[in-house]
Amino acid sequence: MPRPQKHVFICTQNRPQGHPRGSCAANGSAEVINEFINQIQNRNLFDKIALTNTGCLGPCTLGPSVLVYPEGVLYARISKDDVTTIIDQHLLGGEVVEQLQASSEIW
Ligand code: FES
Repeated sequence: MPRPQKHVFICTQNRPQGHPRGSCAANGSAEVINEFINQIQNRNLFDKIALTNTGCLGPCTLGPSVLVYPEGVLYARISKDDVTTIIDQHLLGGEVVEQLQASSEIW
């Protein structure tokens, strides 16, 4: 298996309803990871992009959280509609999507 150029971690943490921290699962992370999976599969990007679902990354109320390495860029409040932009602009194009990036106070 070739080493991927980018590794995307998507928080899919769930918590009981009413939990004070909320969760990325409650904010729609399943839709986000499914969109990443579909696009990576349909565009045959397996050699370039690795995808891992994770537990809590920290900023729960700003989820779904998506973390991209090797840069260590955290994206906040991501919806499935943002996935194409993240893939095209950052993962393939090498430019951080600044309007989706978590603020510097958060990360
Ligand atoms: S639950 Fe996703 S960042 Fe905490």
